[in-house]
Amino acid sequence: MFVEKVLERATKSELCSILVLLVISLSIYTFYATLNSYLRSVLLSLRLTGPPSLPFLGNCMLVTDKDLMRKCASKAFDLYGSLVRIWVLLFPFFAVLQPEDLQVILSSKKHTNKVFFYKLMHNFLGDGLITSSGSKWSNHRRLIQPAFHHTLLEKFIDTFVDASQSLYENLDASAVGTEINIAKYVNSCVLDILNEAVLGVPIKKKGKDMVSMEDSPFRQGKLMMPTRFTHPWLLLDGIYHWTKMANDELNQKKRLNDFTRQMIKRRREIQNNNNGNGERKCLLDHMIEISESNSDFTEEDIVNEACTFMLAGQDSVGAAVAFTLFLLTQNPDCQDRCLQELESIFSGSNRAPSMADLLEMRYMEMCIKEALRLYPSVPLIARKLGEEVRLANHTLPAGSNVFICPYATHRLAHIYPDPEKFQPERFSPENSEHRHPYAFIPFSAGPRYCIGNRFAIMEIKTIVSRLLRSFQLLPVPGKTTVEATFRITLRASGGLWVRLKPRDHPLTDH
Ligand code: HEM
Repeated sequence: MFVEKVLERATKSELCSILVLLVISLSIYTFYATLNSYLRSVLLSLRLTGPPSLPFLGNCMLVTDKDLMRKCASKAFDLYGSLVRIWVLLFPFFAVLQPEDLQVILSSKKHTNKVFFYKLMHNFLGDGLITSSGSKWSNHRRLIQPAFHHTLLEKFIDTFVDASQSLYENLDASAVGTEINIAKYVNSCVLDILNEAVLGVPIKKKGKDMVSMEDSPFRQGKLMMPTRFTHPWLLLDGIYHWTKMANDELNQKKRLNDFTRQMIKRRREIQNNNNGNGERKCLLDHMIEISESNSDFTEEDIVNEACTFMLAGQDSVGAAVAFTLFLLTQNPDCQDRCLQELESIFSGSNRAPSMADLLEMRYMEMCIKEALRLYPSVPLIARKLGEEVRLANHTLPAGSNVFICPYATHRLAHIYPDPEKFQPERFSPENSEHRHPYAFIPFSAGPRYCIGNRFAIMEIKTIVSRLLRSFQLLPVPGKTTVEATFRITLRASGGLWVRLKPRDHPLTDH
């Protein structure tokens, strides 16, 4: 009542003054709230331990340490406890390691916002599901989620099968008997799958190739963010904007966007003319349908989300396939068990796998999970706390920056005894039953878990089973260990080496 009366009597200029006063008060309040949260985070970080840091740079240079994963991440809990202090320049971050604490953060809708440096990936990933926050993220997630429903995933299996067959033919023609870095071969298979499943570009078939995949700009995508961290002045957009690197990044973004727009146009033409010529439905088709019934899901949103899928599903799956194949090479008993399982599923038939067959590959799934435990493709995730949280006897203020490091959590010896050993049995139903659900988080967990996780597991099973049905994987003497290197996607520096021996009785000739 009182407010209404005041507003009735106020003149225009008085109303303006009230508005300005409100904006100033709000800005001062936000400034003090942010400062208060920052100072409380600093005080907390001074009470915690973490890796030694440099003045101003903090722990930024750790990203250049090739041995970071072995020296620091795998021993983080023993060295520093369950809550670890890390400085990113002058900003304190808290690495949370224990499953119980991770659940508090990951399961809550209050903590779904990403930290500032995800913005540095905009030019690479676009403003899509991975980098966006708030209502934009939740709306897009709600709209896109049904496209990954398991009944629709079945439609992608032919794509997985065709790409795996091409990979097999390529290896059979050029790599049998020699020592090969399997990671290199796998990557182009994964890109072929994404090109068809996301953008609708058919997998190369000799003689009738619609778009040359060699021209796909997604093959050469490069992320500049790590360089910006090791040269922190480049984190300031005002400076970065003038560098050659920024220019290259913008050109790259333009190439990715133009290519994607060209593919959207093509899919629209196909839909309008109803002349799919038997072409498979792709994620662009789903997103075009979404935009037709939701005016706020624009063509730019389709481009951003498609670029996100193309980049999020590339190195992550490539690494998971390569690590799984390598670990099966080093563990012949597990490789034999996978083969026995394939023999019992296909009983001598050379047919390609169906969805039901892939679901039957239970032991192989245990091997893939164990590979993802040891070498989670995404070694680091970050979140901004939406409200105060109490963890490990400490209070993390609202606005704190949190790191989640699956690589470190997956090596907690009290959860995974002898953590460096490859033991797929850890993921048998009996052994998984009593494990904390947030102790295995290669795909993250909670409302922002990986939208492509089922797609990825089906894809990995199809590729690995295709190769195992035709080749015995043999180790390369002197190249039997992994040097895991920290990148946005985990890498094995020096490669993942195997030798392929054709099986005397291949389980398939396709
Ligand atoms: C082995 C393969 C994969 C692994 C290990 C993986 C892992 C992850 C992780 C850890 C996240 C959370 C990232 C964060 O919060 O910062 C994530 C998110 C995401 N992933 Fe994956 N991913 C894989 C494959 C895929 C594939 C094949 C696609 C798409 C075709 C995909 C699309 C996405 C998207 C869109 C998000 C963002 C989800 C959201 O925030 O709502 N991923 N993934």
